Amino acid sequence: MNNKRIAPLELSAEEFKTLGYNLVDNISGFNNTIVDKPVTKGENPKQIQEILGDHPFPKNSMPADALLNKATDLLFNHSLFNGHPKFMGYITSSAAPIGALADLLASTVNPNVGAYALSPMATEIEKQTIQWLAEFIGVSSNYGGVLVSGGNMANFTAFLAARASIANKNIKEEGLGSLKKKLVMYCSKSTHTWIDKAAILFGHGTNAIRWIATDNDNKMNLEALELAITTDIIDGHEPFFVVGTAGDVSTGTVDNLEGISEICKFYNMWFHIDGAYGAPANILPELKTTFKGIKEADSIAIDPHKWLYSPLEAGCTLVKNPKHLVDAYSSHPEYYNFVTESSEHNFYEYGLQNSRGFRALKIWLMLQQVGRKGYEKMISEDIELSKLLFKLSNDHPKLEAITQSLSITTFRYMPTKISKHIKDKKAYINELNEALINNLQQGGKVFVSNAIINNNYCLRSCIVNFRTSKKDIEETIDIVVKEGEKIHKRLQLGK
Ligand SMILES: Cc1ncc(COP(=O)(O)O)c(C=O)c1O
Repeated sequence: MNNKRIAPLELSAEEFKTLGYNLVDNISGFNNTIVDKPVTKGENPKQIQEILGDHPFPKNSMPADALLNKATDLLFNHSLFNGHPKFMGYITSSAAPIGALADLLASTVNPNVGAYALSPMATEIEKQTIQWLAEFIGVSSNYGGVLVSGGNMANFTAFLAARASIANKNIKEEGLGSLKKKLVMYCSKSTHTWIDKAAILFGHGTNAIRWIATDNDNKMNLEALELAITTDIIDGHEPFFVVGTAGDVSTGTVDNLEGISEICKFYNMWFHIDGAYGAPANILPELKTTFKGIKEADSIAIDPHKWLYSPLEAGCTLVKNPKHLVDAYSSHPEYYNFVTESSEHNFYEYGLQNSRGFRALKIWLMLQQVGRKGYEKMISEDIELSKLLFKLSNDHPKLEAITQSLSITTFRYMPTKISKHIKDKKAYINELNEALINNLQQGGKVFVSNAIINNNYCLRSCIVNFRTSKKDIEETIDIVVKEGEKIHKRLQLGK
């Protein structure tokens, strides 16, 4: 073998520059023209598979420029664009362009942010990012934490820390079976599905979840919460974990966090906040009352890939006393010789992952690129647009506005006249709105998702999109009404 090894994966400096400049040109062009494209072409899986082609794993090398051009074409022409100004579905944000550049830089250095020794600067950047995220959402910067892939993982990470904190040694060494009492957890009916997954995967079973009723305003009913806790105590169980949701996935409602924290303190329970979507809105001075009590949380999940506009994937678990994370996750196999000095922070001891990528860089850069003021502006504008959508649908004779909270609006198409032969009008309106959403999601003009509110099938728009404008909202109203009219006509004719 020569002194200089030539590996098939290596790219010469010149090749790398040519490929990179070309790709960056294409990306810049894409960002600048995204508004002219449909949100999606609505191609079905079969069409997508045909476009991709059914090729076997290639035996020989292929030229990198052709490969990158092909990948660019496939993705730019056959994707759903959550960076499109009229993408308002689910809770996925438009991605900050600086995040794409950050990912390129992060992959180039490729630090393994599991251990300090493998990632000294990247670890410090992640620590600083976590501290800034705590400041961002208005809790003490003494909260510690870890970056994870998204909201589910951020909630799981906190859940396991909570569990370890109440029965540390027993659970770690003897497992759940050694506990004398059954651990029970509480959350409102609007809680995201992560709680089911946690109960199932971490050995509690879904019967350990107490789904607490919500009030008319969709917040957890605190009397029902307390009643459920006391009933469980009488029944010999151990209530240990309450979830307050700060921005529920369907309507954006924020629970009474202060009230939940008082109950948790009284019964000596862990208070967790799922702020995956909504917590960043606490940056706005006018929303401080809505989020009152957030500072009392033992743990908080937030998702920079939602309302901080980070490219996927980016979630974060914050814990008031970070020692609980270490208690839950730290282990020292013999083949690790990482010194755990107090100055050396090994992230593998703070969460489920061992080897970890450098997620922090994109968030760290975004937070500095626009600062507190920039985020206040973007988040408050998203909320204003959501309120505008509510108002316009409320004012429109063929729409019904249902709810508005944070940047989520729910509304539905309401025909002014329904044929007499349709007996169950409520079911018909649900059917109409379900068909309307399917149609909109395929059509590519605007992308909204759905919510079921009081058994009503609604359109749901969540604006975590710094590209959406007032014009997009006005046009959305027109699109929804036109499509609604078409579907109504079709359904009335029984087609
Ligand atoms: C309140 C809430 N929690 C958790 C999640 C799950 O987040 P992810 O999809 O990033 O895992 C979501 C997703 O929308 C959410 O809205």
